[in-house]
Amino acid sequence: MPEIERAAVIGLGPIGASWTVAFARSGLPVSVFDVDAARRDAIADECRRSFTGLGMTAEAILAAMGLVSVATTLADAVAGADYVQEAASETLEVKRALFAALDAACGPETLIVSSTSAMPLTTFAAELPGRERMLIAHPATPPHLLPVVELVPAPFTPERTVARTAALMAAIGQSPIVVRKEVRAFVMNRILAAMFVEMGRLIGDGVVSPRDADAAIRDGFALRWAFLGPLEGADLNNAGGIEEYLTKYNSLYEDYARETKGSAPVFTRELIETIARDMRARVPLENIPERRLWRDESIMALRELRAKRGSGIT
Ligand SMILES: NC(=O)c1ccc[n+]([C@@H]2O[C@H](COP(=O)([O-])OP(=O)(O)OC[C@H]3O[C@@H](n4cnc5c(N)ncnc54)[C@H](O)[C@@H]3O)[C@@H](O)[C@H]2O)c1
Repeated sequence: MPEIERAAVIGLGPIGASWTVAFARSGLPVSVFDVDAARRDAIADECRRSFTGLGMTAEAILAAMGLVSVATTLADAVAGADYVQEAASETLEVKRALFAALDAACGPETLIVSSTSAMPLTTFAAELPGRERMLIAHPATPPHLLPVVELVPAPFTPERTVARTAALMAAIGQSPIVVRKEVRAFVMNRILAAMFVEMGRLIGDGVVSPRDADAAIRDGFALRWAFLGPLEGADLNNAGGIEEYLTKYNSLYEDYARETKGSAPVFTRELIETIARDMRARVPLENIPERRLWRDESIMALRELRAKRGSGIT
C-alpha cells in the first residue's frame, strides 16, 4: 500500500484551513488552493495563528510553515499529491465540477476525498472513471482539534481506499469511524439533528430558554461525553449495564418516537429569531472570534487531560 507523502487541500474556508494545519502539524507537506485569491493570501497567517494556538515552539512553527505551499491553480496544487482533501463550498454543483476536475488532474493512485457534511459520494462522483479512489472524510469543526472523522464509502468504493484513508487519518492523529451505508447527513450530523430538533421543540413550546437548554448539555452530559460515548455512559449508570438501562427506559423512548413522528417544522423564522436574540445577548457577534479562541484553548486543555487519563474502552 503506497504511503501518503504529500497532501493537497482544495478550498480554504474554516475547514480547509484547519485540515492544512492538521497535515502540516504532523510533518506532511501540503499544497493548498482556493478559487478566491483573498483566501489564498490569508491562509499562511491563519496557519501561523493556529500553530501558535497549539502551543508549538517557534522552531516547530517554522518547520510546519515550510511544509505549506500555496498554489494558484488546481493543477499545481494536486501535482505530486497522493492525497487530496476537498473542502470547497457545500453545493452539489461545486462538488460535481470539482470532483470531475480532480479526477482528470490527479494521478491514478491519488486518493480524492471530500469533507462534505451531508452529501453521499454517489450524488456527485458515481459517473467518474476514477471513482474507486474517492471517498468522504467528514470532520468535526475544527478538524485539527477534534479528532473524529467519518469515512463514508459509496457502494463503488473498494476497501483499499477506505483503509488507505483511515491509515493516513490515524497517522495525523485523527480518529476515523466508518459509516457502513450511504445515508444523507451520515452519522454525526444525524445524531446532532435529533438533538437540535428536540431543543427547537422544547424552546419553541416555551418549556425551556435557549440558555438553559445549552446548560442542560454543557453542565451535564457533555462533561461525561468528553470521556465516554452516550452508550458507555448509560452502561455505567445501572448495575445491569446497558441492557438494564435500555430495558428500563425503553417505553420512554418508544413514547418519544411515537409522539414526535411527523411533527411540524421546528425551526420557524420566529423561533430562529428568538434563539438568535438570546444568543446575541450572551455573545455579541463581534466577540465570536475571541470566543472561538477560548473554545479552541478549552478543547486543547481537555484533550491534554484525556491523554493523561487514557481514553478507556474503544
Ligand atoms: N463548517 C463546518 O462546520 C463544517 C464541518 C464539517 C465539514 N464541513 C464541510 O467542509 C466543506 C468546507 O466547509 P467550510 O465551512 O470551510 O466552507 P466555506 O464555504 O466557508 O469555504 C469553502 C471555500 O471553498 C472555496 N471554493 C469554492 N469552490 C471552489 C473550487 N472549485 N476550487 C477551490 N476552492 C473553491 C471558496 O472560495 C471558499 O473559500 C463543505 O463541504 C462543508 O460541508 C463543514
